Amino acid sequence: ETETEDFVIDDEVIKTIFKIRNEFSHKGTFGKAAIVGGSYGKMGAAVLSTRAALKAGAGLTFTLSPKCGYEILQISDPEAMFIEGGKDFIESFDLDEETVCGIGPGLGTHEKTAESLLKFLKSYSKPLILDADALNIIAQNPDHLNLIPEKSIITPHPKEFERLFGKTGNSFERTELAKSKSRELNIYIVLKDHHTQIITPEGKVFYNITGNSGLAKGGSGDILTGIITSFLAQQYSELEAAILGVWFHGRAAEFASEKHSKESMLPSDVINEFGNVFSELN
Ligand code: APR
Ligand code: MG
Repeated sequence: ETETEDFVIDDEVIKTIFKIRNEFSHKGTFGKAAIVGGSYGKMGAAVLSTRAALKAGAGLTFTLSPKCGYEILQISDPEAMFIEGGKDFIESFDLDEETVCGIGPGLGTHEKTAESLLKFLKSYSKPLILDADALNIIAQNPDHLNLIPEKSIITPHPKEFERLFGKTGNSFERTELAKSKSRELNIYIVLKDHHTQIITPEGKVFYNITGNSGLAKGGSGDILTGIITSFLAQQYSELEAAILGVWFHGRAAEFASEKHSKESMLPSDVINEFGNVFSELN
């Protein structure tokens, strides 16, 4: 039996995590972030995730994507650099351990993509952010779970969580299962939902209270992956990046809904509010 420690992510928690940007800095100070994703017909996910990583402050941002996304990405996100990882889908991961990787948005689950992802995970030991199709590939075989580098952050929505770890009867059981998997695998689990929970290997649960139903749209999750990847690249710890990232994503959504309504706001509108969230924090 583990002792439960539950926390609400309030302004105090955020104040202790957030670091003012040092003026005596250069792009190297804020790290390298790479979004790994995109495939034919799903380039939007890579575009949004990359854009979120850029706008959340990373020093250098890359997108590893297939060649079919080259022009789309260079035109949509000109501040990011392109790394070619295949033709119509990703089949190679040319990434060093200095770069913080967020893998999954629009990745697809092509057999070759799956093979190359698993091979990459076997060779890689630094914490990663894993989302969407990266999780769907891992879920194809329970043995794959052990390939996730320790201290990595996974960001499943309820369906992805179920594919990874199995069915649960209710949200309480899901949290309990997440706590045991987080401890067993030594990873952080960001259980996405209307109130997202961040679960640590030590059994702590952090509840997020920012955000709104305007986020219930395709693309919102891809943005979250970009934000967390960006914060991890900027020297926040894994737990800090996850907490600050989830809170920040929701807060930006609140600004976006004020301006555009929950119905009409788009994930790109949420990205465009990042500046207002930073202004509030600074
Ligand atoms: N209130 C607050 N936050 C919300 C709400 C809500 N009502 N609804 C969604 N969100 C937030 C979640 O907490 C999460 O951060 O929006 C994000 C949604 O993320 P995903 O579920 O990953 O959605 P996304 O990937 O953008 O959408 C396409 O849907 O069917 C799946 O697998 C499919 O990956 C695809 C995804
Ligand atoms: Mg998603």
